[in-house]
Amino acid sequence: MTTQHTRTRSPRLTFPTGFVWGAATSAYQIEGAVSTDGRGPSIWDTFVRRPGTVLNGDDADVTIDHYRRYRDDVRLMADLGLTAYRFSVSWPRVQPTGSGRVNAAGLDFYKRLADELLAAGVEPWLTLYHWDLPQALEDAGGWPERDTAARFADYAAVVHEALSDRVARWSTVNEPWCAAFLGYASGEHAPGRREPVNALRAAHHLGLAHGLAVQAMRAQTTATTIGGCVNLYAISPASDAEADLDAARRIGGLQNRFFLDALLKGAYPADVLEDLAPMTDMSFVRDGDLAAVSTPIDLLLVNYYSRFTVSGTAGGASSAAAAPTDTGSPWVGSEHVSFISGGRPVTSMGWEIDEAGLTEVLSWVAREYPSIPMVVSENGAAFEDVPAPDGAVHDRDRLAYIEAHLRACHAAIAEGVPLRGYFAWSLMDNFEWAWGYGKRFGLVYVDYQTQRRTPKDSARWYAETISRGGPSAPAE
Ligand code: FCB
Repeated sequence: MTTQHTRTRSPRLTFPTGFVWGAATSAYQIEGAVSTDGRGPSIWDTFVRRPGTVLNGDDADVTIDHYRRYRDDVRLMADLGLTAYRFSVSWPRVQPTGSGRVNAAGLDFYKRLADELLAAGVEPWLTLYHWDLPQALEDAGGWPERDTAARFADYAAVVHEALSDRVARWSTVNEPWCAAFLGYASGEHAPGRREPVNALRAAHHLGLAHGLAVQAMRAQTTATTIGGCVNLYAISPASDAEADLDAARRIGGLQNRFFLDALLKGAYPADVLEDLAPMTDMSFVRDGDLAAVSTPIDLLLVNYYSRFTVSGTAGGASSAAAAPTDTGSPWVGSEHVSFISGGRPVTSMGWEIDEAGLTEVLSWVAREYPSIPMVVSENGAAFEDVPAPDGAVHDRDRLAYIEAHLRACHAAIAEGVPLRGYFAWSLMDNFEWAWGYGKRFGLVYVDYQTQRRTPKDSARWYAETISRGGPSAPAE
Protein backbone atom coordinates (compact mmCIF):
# COMPACT_ATOMS: atom_id res chain seq x y z
CA MET A 1 0.00 0.00 0.00
CA THR A 2 1.31 3.46 -0.77
CA THR A 3 0.25 6.99 -0.04
CA GLN A 4 -1.60 9.32 -2.31
CA HIS A 5 0.11 12.61 -3.01
CA THR A 6 -1.76 15.83 -3.57
CA ARG A 7 -0.06 19.13 -4.36
CA THR A 8 -1.15 22.67 -4.38
CA ARG A 9 1.19 25.59 -4.85
CA SER A 10 -0.04 27.83 -2.07
CA PRO A 11 -0.22 28.77 0.65
CA ARG A 12 3.17 27.52 1.71
CA LEU A 13 4.61 26.73 5.11
CA THR A 14 7.50 28.96 6.02
CA PHE A 15 10.39 27.63 8.04
CA PRO A 16 12.52 29.88 10.26
CA THR A 17 15.31 31.81 8.59
CA GLY A 18 18.52 29.83 8.77
CA PHE A 19 16.71 26.48 8.83
CA VAL A 20 19.17 23.89 7.53
CA TRP A 21 18.04 22.08 4.37
CA GLY A 22 20.18 19.02 3.93
CA ALA A 23 20.57 15.50 2.68
CA ALA A 24 22.59 12.70 4.22
CA THR A 25 24.74 9.74 3.23
CA SER A 26 27.34 7.56 4.90
CA ALA A 27 30.83 6.53 3.85
CA TYR A 28 30.41 2.78 3.50
CA GLN A 29 27.13 3.10 1.67
CA ILE A 30 28.44 5.36 -1.10
CA GLU A 31 32.24 5.54 -1.33
CA GLY A 32 33.39 2.22 -2.74
CA ALA A 33 37.17 2.24 -3.29
CA VAL A 34 37.54 -0.07 -0.32
CA SER A 35 41.21 -0.79 -0.96
CA THR A 36 42.20 2.54 -2.44
CA ASP A 37 44.80 4.96 -1.04
CA GLY A 38 45.64 2.84 1.96
CA ARG A 39 42.14 2.23 3.39
CA GLY A 40 42.08 -0.75 5.76
CA PRO A 41 39.24 -3.29 6.01
CA SER A 42 36.17 -2.58 8.13
CA ILE A 43 33.76 -4.99 9.78
CA TRP A 44 31.37 -4.45 6.88
CA ASP A 45 33.96 -5.59 4.31
CA THR A 46 34.25 -8.80 6.28
CA PHE A 47 30.52 -9.18 6.92
CA VAL A 48 29.39 -8.79 3.31
CA ARG A 49 31.65 -11.69 2.33
CA ARG A 50 29.91 -14.06 4.72
CA PRO A 51 27.27 -16.03 2.79
CA GLY A 52 23.69 -15.17 3.65
CA THR A 53 24.34 -11.84 5.33
CA VAL A 54 23.37 -9.44 2.53
CA LEU A 55 20.51 -9.79 0.07
CA ASN A 56 21.72 -11.20 -3.26
CA GLY A 57 25.26 -11.41 -1.90
CA ASP A 58 25.75 -7.72 -2.74
CA ASP A 59 28.90 -5.97 -1.52
CA ALA A 60 29.97 -2.33 -1.32
CA ASP A 61 33.36 -2.63 -3.01
CA VAL A 62 32.24 -0.10 -5.62
CA THR A 63 28.74 0.89 -4.52
CA ILE A 64 28.08 4.29 -6.16
CA ASP A 65 31.74 5.17 -6.59
CA HIS A 66 31.48 8.42 -4.64
CA TYR A 67 35.17 8.31 -3.67
CA ARG A 68 36.01 9.04 -7.32
CA ARG A 69 32.88 10.99 -8.25
CA TYR A 70 32.61 13.26 -5.22
CA ARG A 71 33.10 16.44 -7.26
CA ASP A 72 30.13 15.63 -9.49
CA ASP A 73 28.10 14.68 -6.44
CA VAL A 74 28.83 18.02 -4.78
CA ARG A 75 27.74 19.76 -7.99
CA LEU A 76 24.50 17.83 -7.78
CA MET A 77 23.97 19.05 -4.20
CA ALA A 78 24.62 22.64 -5.25
CA ASP A 79 22.15 22.25 -8.14
CA LEU A 80 19.52 21.11 -5.65
CA GLY A 81 20.25 24.13 -3.48
CA LEU A 82 21.09 22.07 -0.39
CA THR A 83 22.42 24.28 2.37
CA ALA A 84 24.09 21.34 4.15
CA TYR A 85 25.35 17.84 3.46
CA ARG A 86 25.73 15.21 6.18
CA PHE A 87 28.36 12.58 5.38
CA SER A 88 30.49 10.25 7.44
CA VAL A 89 34.22 9.67 7.61
CA SER A 90 35.46 6.13 7.14
CA TRP A 91 37.54 5.29 10.20
CA PRO A 92 39.61 2.64 8.36
CA ARG A 93 40.50 5.19 5.66
CA VAL A 94 41.97 7.44 8.34
CA GLN A 95 43.39 4.74 10.61
CA PRO A 96 43.62 1.50 8.63
CA THR A 97 43.98 -0.63 11.76
CA GLY A 98 41.85 1.56 14.02
CA SER A 99 44.72 2.83 16.13
CA GLY A 100 48.13 4.35 15.77
CA ARG A 101 49.28 5.17 12.28
CA VAL A 102 47.27 7.82 10.47
CA ASN A 103 46.79 7.47 6.74
CA ALA A 104 47.24 10.99 5.35
CA ALA A 105 45.69 10.03 2.01
CA GLY A 106 42.48 9.10 3.81
CA LEU A 107 42.28 12.42 5.60
CA ASP A 108 43.07 14.23 2.36
CA PHE A 109 39.96 12.83 0.74
CA TYR A 110 37.75 14.42 3.39
CA LYS A 111 39.69 17.69 3.18
CA ARG A 112 39.05 17.78 -0.56
CA LEU A 113 35.40 16.89 -0.04
CA ALA A 114 34.94 19.62 2.59
CA ASP A 115 36.70 22.19 0.38
CA GLU A 116 34.51 21.26 -2.56
CA LEU A 117 31.38 21.61 -0.42
CA LEU A 118 32.45 24.97 0.97
CA ALA A 119 33.23 26.26 -2.50
CA ALA A 120 29.74 25.17 -3.61
CA GLY A 121 28.08 26.90 -0.65
CA VAL A 122 27.00 23.64 0.98
CA GLU A 123 27.90 23.36 4.66
CA PRO A 124 29.70 20.11 5.55
CA TRP A 125 28.16 18.19 8.48
CA LEU A 126 30.58 15.48 9.48
CA THR A 127 29.69 12.25 11.29
CA LEU A 128 32.69 10.39 12.70
CA TYR A 129 31.23 6.90 12.83
CA HIS A 130 28.55 5.36 10.67
CA TRP A 131 29.19 1.71 11.50
CA ASP A 132 32.43 0.93 9.63
CA LEU A 133 34.62 -0.18 12.55
CA PRO A 134 38.17 -1.07 11.49
CA GLN A 135 38.33 -4.87 11.35
CA ALA A 136 41.48 -4.89 13.50
CA LEU A 137 39.47 -3.45 16.40
CA GLU A 138 36.76 -6.10 15.99
CA ASP A 139 39.53 -8.72 16.01
CA ALA A 140 40.54 -7.26 19.38
CA GLY A 141 36.98 -7.67 20.69
CA GLY A 142 35.04 -4.86 18.99
CA TRP A 143 32.58 -2.58 20.77
CA PRO A 144 32.03 -4.97 23.71
CA GLU A 145 35.65 -4.10 24.65
CA ARG A 146 36.14 -0.90 26.61
CA ASP A 147 39.37 -0.08 24.80
CA THR A 148 37.43 0.51 21.56
CA ALA A 149 35.93 3.65 23.12
CA ALA A 150 39.41 5.03 23.85
CA ARG A 151 40.52 4.21 20.30
CA PHE A 152 37.50 6.11 18.99
CA ALA A 153 38.39 9.19 21.02
CA ASP A 154 41.92 9.10 19.54
CA TYR A 155 40.48 8.79 16.05
CA ALA A 156 38.05 11.67 16.69
CA ALA A 157 40.95 13.84 17.83
CA VAL A 158 42.90 13.04 14.65
CA VAL A 159 40.01 13.91 12.35
CA HIS A 160 38.98 17.01 14.31
CA GLU A 161 42.56 18.30 14.37
CA ALA A 162 42.81 17.88 10.60
CA LEU A 163 39.39 19.18 9.58
CA SER A 164 38.06 21.58 12.20
CA ASP A 165 39.52 24.49 10.24
CA ARG A 166 36.95 23.83 7.51
CA VAL A 167 34.20 21.73 9.10
CA ALA A 168 32.16 23.43 11.83
CA ARG A 169 29.42 20.81 12.39
CA TRP A 170 30.42 17.53 14.00
CA SER A 171 28.66 14.49 15.31
CA THR A 172 30.03 11.33 16.83
CA VAL A 173 28.28 7.95 16.50
CA ASN A 174 25.39 7.47 14.09
CA GLU A 175 22.54 5.53 15.71
CA PRO A 176 24.33 3.73 18.52
CA TRP A 177 21.21 1.53 18.93
CA CYS A 178 21.80 -0.05 15.52
CA ALA A 179 25.55 -0.40 15.98
CA ALA A 180 25.06 -2.17 19.32
CA PHE A 181 21.90 -4.21 18.94
CA LEU A 182 21.83 -5.04 15.22
CA GLY A 183 25.60 -5.63 15.27
CA TYR A 184 25.93 -7.68 18.44
CA ALA A 185 22.44 -9.00 19.39
CA SER A 186 20.41 -9.74 16.26
CA GLY A 187 23.48 -10.16 14.08
CA GLU A 188 21.67 -8.48 11.22
CA HIS A 189 24.50 -5.98 10.80
CA ALA A 190 28.27 -6.29 11.00
CA PRO A 191 29.98 -7.85 12.83
CA GLY A 192 27.01 -10.23 12.89
CA ARG A 193 27.32 -11.49 16.44
CA ARG A 194 24.37 -12.75 18.50
CA GLU A 195 25.57 -12.12 22.02
CA PRO A 196 22.92 -10.17 23.94
CA VAL A 197 25.05 -9.20 26.94
CA ASN A 198 27.88 -8.16 24.65
CA ALA A 199 25.37 -6.00 22.81
CA LEU A 200 24.77 -4.14 26.09
CA ARG A 201 28.49 -3.78 26.62
CA ALA A 202 28.73 -2.46 23.07
CA ALA A 203 25.89 -0.01 23.75
CA HIS A 204 27.67 1.34 26.80
CA HIS A 205 31.01 1.61 25.06
CA LEU A 206 29.46 3.37 22.08
CA GLY A 207 28.08 5.97 24.49
CA LEU A 208 31.43 6.20 26.23
CA ALA A 209 33.15 6.55 22.86
CA HIS A 210 30.83 9.44 22.09
CA GLY A 211 31.57 11.19 25.39
CA LEU A 212 35.33 10.70 25.25
CA ALA A 213 35.36 11.92 21.66
CA VAL A 214 33.41 15.06 22.62
CA GLN A 215 35.99 15.73 25.35
CA ALA A 216 38.92 15.15 22.99
CA MET A 217 37.49 17.51 20.38
CA ARG A 218 36.53 20.15 22.94
CA ALA A 219 40.09 20.08 24.27
CA GLN A 220 41.27 21.24 20.82
CA THR A 221 38.78 24.05 20.30
CA THR A 222 35.37 25.15 21.41
CA ALA A 223 34.70 26.69 18.02
CA THR A 224 32.98 23.66 16.53
CA THR A 225 29.42 22.50 17.12
CA ILE A 226 29.33 18.91 18.37
CA GLY A 227 26.29 16.67 18.49
CA GLY A 228 25.21 13.15 19.31
CA CYS A 229 22.92 11.13 17.06
CA VAL A 230 20.11 8.74 17.97
CA ASN A 231 17.42 6.92 16.02
CA LEU A 232 14.09 7.41 17.70
CA TYR A 233 10.72 5.76 17.09
CA ALA A 234 7.20 6.76 17.94
CA ILE A 235 5.90 3.85 19.98
CA SER A 236 2.33 2.73 20.63
CA PRO A 237 1.03 -0.12 22.73
CA ALA A 238 -1.25 -2.47 20.77
CA SER A 239 -3.95 -1.96 23.41
CA ASP A 240 -4.43 -0.69 26.93
CA ALA A 241 -3.80 -4.16 28.30
CA GLU A 242 -1.09 -4.17 30.92
CA ALA A 243 1.18 -6.46 28.91
CA ASP A 244 1.00 -4.13 25.91
CA LEU A 245 1.66 -1.02 27.97
CA ASP A 246 4.65 -2.81 29.48
CA ALA A 247 5.87 -3.75 25.99
CA ALA A 248 5.70 -0.09 24.93
CA ARG A 249 7.62 0.96 28.03
CA ARG A 250 10.28 -1.69 27.38
CA ILE A 251 10.79 -0.93 23.70
CA GLY A 252 10.71 2.82 24.33
CA GLY A 253 13.26 2.21 27.06
CA LEU A 254 15.69 0.28 24.86
CA GLN A 255 15.17 2.22 21.66
CA ASN A 256 14.70 5.80 22.83
CA ARG A 257 15.51 6.37 26.49
CA PHE A 258 18.60 4.20 26.99
CA PHE A 259 20.87 6.42 24.90
CA LEU A 260 19.05 9.72 25.44
CA ASP A 261 19.14 9.41 29.22
CA ALA A 262 22.82 8.48 29.18
CA LEU A 263 23.74 11.32 26.81
CA LEU A 264 21.56 14.04 28.27
CA LYS A 265 20.88 13.01 31.88
CA GLY A 266 24.01 11.05 32.71
CA ALA A 267 22.15 7.94 33.89
CA TYR A 268 20.58 4.83 32.40
CA PRO A 269 16.82 4.61 32.97
CA ALA A 270 16.12 2.67 36.18
CA ASP A 271 13.26 0.65 34.67
CA VAL A 272 15.46 -0.49 31.77
CA LEU A 273 18.18 -1.58 34.20
CA GLU A 274 15.52 -3.57 36.05
CA ASP A 275 14.39 -5.24 32.84
CA LEU A 276 18.01 -6.19 32.15
CA ALA A 277 18.88 -7.27 35.69
CA PRO A 278 18.28 -11.00 35.04
CA MET A 279 20.95 -10.88 32.32
CA THR A 280 23.56 -8.50 33.63
CA ASP A 281 24.41 -6.28 36.57
CA MET A 282 26.01 -3.84 34.11
CA SER A 283 29.25 -4.03 36.09
CA PHE A 284 31.10 -3.00 32.95
CA VAL A 285 29.81 0.53 33.69
CA ARG A 286 32.59 2.12 35.75
CA ASP A 287 32.50 5.07 38.08
CA GLY A 288 32.67 8.28 36.12
CA ASP A 289 31.60 6.68 32.83
CA LEU A 290 28.18 8.28 32.73
CA ALA A 291 29.64 11.68 33.53
CA ALA A 292 31.83 11.20 30.45
CA VAL A 293 28.94 9.95 28.31
CA SER A 294 26.94 13.02 29.25
CA THR A 295 29.65 15.56 28.46
CA PRO A 296 27.60 18.54 27.26
CA ILE A 297 26.83 18.66 23.55
CA ASP A 298 25.47 21.46 21.41
CA LEU A 299 22.97 19.56 19.37
CA LEU A 300 20.96 16.36 19.14
CA LEU A 301 20.72 14.67 15.76
CA VAL A 302 17.49 12.70 15.49
CA ASN A 303 16.97 10.05 12.83
CA TYR A 304 13.29 9.23 12.41
CA TYR A 305 11.59 6.78 10.08
CA SER A 306 8.54 5.14 11.64
CA ARG A 307 6.32 4.06 14.50
CA PHE A 308 6.37 0.73 16.31
CA THR A 309 3.14 -0.78 17.59
CA VAL A 310 4.03 -3.36 20.19
CA SER A 311 2.32 -6.12 22.08
CA GLY A 312 3.47 -7.88 25.20
CA THR A 313 1.83 -11.12 24.18
CA ALA A 314 3.48 -13.40 21.67
CA GLY A 315 1.93 -13.92 18.26
CA GLY A 316 2.42 -10.65 16.35
CA ALA A 317 4.62 -10.35 13.32
CA SER A 318 8.29 -10.06 14.18
CA SER A 319 10.05 -6.69 13.90
CA ALA A 320 9.25 -4.87 10.68
CA ALA A 321 12.95 -4.14 10.48
CA ALA A 322 13.85 -7.83 10.26
CA ALA A 323 16.73 -8.51 7.90
CA PRO A 324 16.55 -10.81 4.89
CA THR A 325 18.71 -13.25 6.83
CA ASP A 326 17.83 -15.43 9.77
CA THR A 327 18.61 -13.29 12.82
CA GLY A 328 18.19 -13.15 16.56
CA SER A 329 16.24 -10.51 18.46
CA PRO A 330 17.77 -7.08 18.91
CA TRP A 331 15.45 -6.45 21.89
CA VAL A 332 17.74 -7.64 24.62
CA GLY A 333 15.80 -8.67 27.72
CA SER A 334 12.46 -7.99 25.98
CA GLU A 335 12.59 -10.68 23.32
CA HIS A 336 8.97 -11.65 24.01
CA VAL A 337 7.62 -8.35 22.66
CA SER A 338 5.96 -8.62 19.26
CA PHE A 339 5.72 -5.90 16.66
CA ILE A 340 2.32 -5.73 15.04
CA SER A 341 0.78 -3.72 12.25
CA GLY A 342 -0.61 -0.34 13.19
CA GLY A 343 -2.65 -0.44 9.99
CA ARG A 344 -0.80 2.36 8.23
CA PRO A 345 0.60 2.41 4.69
CA VAL A 346 4.15 1.10 4.49
CA THR A 347 7.30 1.83 2.48
CA SER A 348 9.07 -0.94 0.60
CA MET A 349 11.06 -1.62 3.78
CA GLY A 350 7.74 -2.55 5.38
CA TRP A 351 8.11 0.48 7.65
CA GLU A 352 4.82 2.18 8.53
CA ILE A 353 4.49 5.77 7.41
CA ASP A 354 3.57 7.97 10.34
CA GLU A 355 4.55 11.60 10.07
CA ALA A 356 2.55 12.47 13.19
CA GLY A 357 5.03 10.23 15.00
CA LEU A 358 7.82 12.62 14.07
CA THR A 359 6.07 15.60 15.66
CA GLU A 360 5.31 13.41 18.67
CA VAL A 361 8.94 12.29 19.05
CA LEU A 362 10.40 15.79 18.64
CA SER A 363 7.94 17.28 21.13
CA TRP A 364 8.61 14.47 23.60
CA VAL A 365 12.37 15.04 23.41
CA ALA A 366 11.88 18.78 23.88
CA ARG A 367 9.80 18.11 27.00
CA GLU A 368 11.94 15.35 28.50
CA TYR A 369 15.35 16.78 27.66
CA PRO A 370 14.76 20.53 27.66
CA SER A 371 16.95 23.03 25.92
CA ILE A 372 18.78 20.73 23.53
CA PRO A 373 18.51 22.07 19.98
CA MET A 374 17.78 19.36 17.42
CA VAL A 375 17.95 18.58 13.75
CA VAL A 376 16.24 15.72 11.96
CA SER A 377 19.43 14.17 10.67
CA GLU A 378 17.80 11.36 8.67
CA ASN A 379 14.29 10.87 7.35
CA GLY A 380 13.18 9.26 4.14
CA ALA A 381 11.71 6.24 2.44
CA ALA A 382 12.52 3.36 0.12
CA PHE A 383 10.07 2.72 -2.68
CA GLU A 384 10.28 0.69 -5.89
CA ASP A 385 11.52 3.31 -8.33
CA VAL A 386 10.96 2.54 -11.98
CA PRO A 387 12.55 4.96 -14.43
CA ALA A 388 10.14 6.11 -17.15
CA PRO A 389 11.17 5.56 -20.79
CA ASP A 390 12.75 9.02 -20.83
CA GLY A 391 14.78 8.17 -17.73
CA ALA A 392 12.78 10.34 -15.32
CA VAL A 393 11.77 8.84 -11.98
CA HIS A 394 8.31 9.85 -10.85
CA ASP A 395 8.62 8.93 -7.20
CA ARG A 396 5.37 10.44 -5.93
CA ASP A 397 5.36 8.23 -2.84
CA ARG A 398 8.76 9.44 -1.65
CA LEU A 399 7.86 13.03 -2.43
CA ALA A 400 4.66 12.67 -0.39
CA TYR A 401 6.59 11.04 2.47
CA ILE A 402 9.10 13.87 2.66
CA GLU A 403 6.48 16.56 2.28
CA ALA A 404 4.41 15.04 5.08
CA HIS A 405 7.42 14.77 7.37
CA LEU A 406 8.49 18.34 6.65
CA ARG A 407 4.99 19.43 7.63
CA ALA A 408 5.45 17.39 10.81
CA CYS A 409 8.69 19.27 11.48
CA HIS A 410 6.90 22.54 10.95
CA ALA A 411 4.21 21.49 13.42
CA ALA A 412 6.90 20.70 16.00
CA ILE A 413 8.51 24.10 15.49
CA ALA A 414 5.10 25.73 15.89
CA GLU A 415 4.84 23.95 19.26
CA GLY A 416 8.12 25.54 20.28
CA VAL A 417 10.49 22.63 19.60
CA PRO A 418 14.00 23.97 18.92
CA LEU A 419 14.35 22.20 15.57
CA ARG A 420 17.08 23.71 13.43
CA GLY A 421 17.18 21.60 10.30
CA TYR A 422 16.17 18.59 8.25
CA PHE A 423 18.32 16.10 6.32
CA ALA A 424 16.65 13.80 3.84
CA TRP A 425 17.94 10.23 3.77
CA SER A 426 19.40 9.85 1.31
CA LEU A 427 20.92 12.16 -1.24
CA MET A 428 21.45 9.23 -3.64
CA ASP A 429 20.44 5.57 -3.90
CA ASN A 430 23.10 3.46 -2.26
CA PHE A 431 24.11 0.25 -0.49
CA GLU A 432 21.38 -0.34 2.09
CA TRP A 433 23.29 -2.61 4.49
CA ALA A 434 21.76 -6.10 4.77
CA TRP A 435 19.39 -5.20 1.92
CA GLY A 436 22.25 -4.50 -0.48
CA TYR A 437 21.05 -2.64 -3.57
CA GLY A 438 17.51 -3.95 -3.09
CA LYS A 439 16.16 -0.79 -1.46
CA ARG A 440 16.40 2.69 -2.94
CA PHE A 441 16.19 5.66 -0.56
CA GLY A 442 17.71 8.34 -2.80
CA LEU A 443 16.37 11.68 -3.91
CA VAL A 444 18.68 10.98 -6.82
CA TYR A 445 18.39 7.75 -8.80
CA VAL A 446 21.61 5.87 -9.44
CA ASP A 447 21.94 3.41 -12.29
CA TYR A 448 24.28 0.90 -10.67
CA GLN A 449 25.60 -0.30 -14.06
CA THR A 450 26.60 3.09 -15.46
CA GLN A 451 26.76 5.12 -12.20
CA ARG A 452 24.57 7.70 -13.90
CA ARG A 453 22.83 10.00 -11.41
CA THR A 454 19.30 11.26 -12.20
CA PRO A 455 17.42 13.51 -9.78
CA LYS A 456 14.02 11.96 -9.10
CA ASP A 457 10.85 14.07 -8.92
CA SER A 458 11.33 14.16 -5.13
CA ALA A 459 14.73 15.84 -5.62
CA ARG A 460 13.25 18.48 -7.91
CA TRP A 461 10.44 19.07 -5.44
CA TYR A 462 12.91 19.31 -2.55
CA ALA A 463 14.99 21.84 -4.50
CA GLU A 464 11.88 23.92 -5.13
CA THR A 465 10.91 23.64 -1.47
CA ILE A 466 14.34 24.83 -0.36
CA SER A 467 14.25 27.77 -2.73
CA ARG A 468 10.82 28.77 -1.37
CA GLY A 469 11.84 28.27 2.27
CA GLY A 470 9.24 25.59 2.89
CA PRO A 471 6.77 23.24 1.21
CA SER A 472 3.40 24.11 -0.19
CA ALA A 473 0.60 23.45 2.25
CA PRO A 474 -1.55 20.39 1.64
CA ALA A 475 -4.82 20.73 -0.23
CA GLU A 476 -7.73 21.80 1.99
C1 FCB B 1 19.37 4.37 9.12
C2 FCB B 1 20.85 4.39 8.80
C3 FCB B 1 21.15 4.73 7.36
C4 FCB B 1 20.17 4.07 6.41
C5 FCB B 1 18.75 4.37 6.84
C6 FCB B 1 17.70 3.81 5.92
O1 FCB B 1 19.15 3.53 10.20
O2 FCB B 1 21.52 5.31 9.62
O3 FCB B 1 22.47 4.36 7.09
O4 FCB B 1 20.41 2.72 6.38
O5 FCB B 1 18.53 3.88 8.13
